Amino acid sequence: MITGKYPSLRLRRSRKYNWSRKLVQENNLSSGDLIYPIFLIEGKNKKQSIKSMPGIYKYSVDKLGVVVKNVINCKIPMVALFPSTPDNKKDKYGNESLNENNLVCRAIRFIKKRFKNNIGIMCDVALDPYTSHGHDGLLKNNYVLNDKTIDILMKQSLLQAQMGCDVIAPSDMMDGRVGKIRKFLDKNKYHDVQILSYAVKYASHFYGPFRDAVGSKKSLKSNKKNYQMDFSNINESLREVALDIKEGADMVMVKPGLPYLDIIQKVKENFKIPVLAYQVSGEYSLIKNGIKNKLINEDAIFESLMCFKRAGASAIVSYFSLDIAKKLKI
Ligand code: PBG
Repeated sequence: MITGKYPSLRLRRSRKYNWSRKLVQENNLSSGDLIYPIFLIEGKNKKQSIKSMPGIYKYSVDKLGVVVKNVINCKIPMVALFPSTPDNKKDKYGNESLNENNLVCRAIRFIKKRFKNNIGIMCDVALDPYTSHGHDGLLKNNYVLNDKTIDILMKQSLLQAQMGCDVIAPSDMMDGRVGKIRKFLDKNKYHDVQILSYAVKYASHFYGPFRDAVGSKKSLKSNKKNYQMDFSNINESLREVALDIKEGADMVMVKPGLPYLDIIQKVKENFKIPVLAYQVSGEYSLIKNGIKNKLINEDAIFESLMCFKRAGASAIVSYFSLDIAKKLKI
């Protein structure tokens, strides 16, 4: 397939000028490829910085108008909502997840009322923002129960759909949850609500700053290795994706991002469905601190996002989305 040889072939010819490099560019990044995560806190008129994630804030629901307007103006198609639930609303069972006046529900209603369908809303489905032990499901003898957890996740999904959520994103890694959630949504006439499955979610050490931001770090005593994937594995990720597609997932997520580009590429090659990537909090803070300490130039952000596109990602959840979209202007 590859023909030609030096000296008649010189690949540097096409790299000589900017116009020429543009013509042979194989991948592109635009604002339409980005999803912006937003952290929520209780209270009024609050914009709170997050120590572990410089430049990222938690907003009270009444402040969301400004943020989301900004996102829409930057042509970013979707926001992802993450609640930082106060400790007094957490319990062993994650009951707050089913409260129609919890932070996420109020935020969905607020955004949809103001901005209608000019922006997509995606919400995580998992119990960790609401449990006192910080795990994504119900615990018995320190083990997360699969089927009992799904019973709650189904209700959490339906509630979010009823509030106006467009994309339900189960991030809990329970077996069989996509199928049960799909059936439950359909039974309740929410056929058009999409499911973005966090099909391939690794038990990663790159989630630290996020857990700090939503307050699950201090409560989480152990790790999530008995439900999230082992980061040594590839084949298992393909089995996860195959199952979730059969169960009705519209899109799948690979998470974390940059250290897992090989997985994005393999999933895309094997299944030809929309694969999304999550450039997680640890990746964000590492790059951000590198820039702050002048170890790397801020163009490293654009490079990191383009690499996701090269690997085959259709879209990227990134805390850099807003900054980059402002610069991209497309
Ligand atoms: C919760 C959830 C996590 C992240 C997104 N949803 C943390 C976890 O699984 O412990 C991490 C995102 C990030 O690090 O940016 N299920």
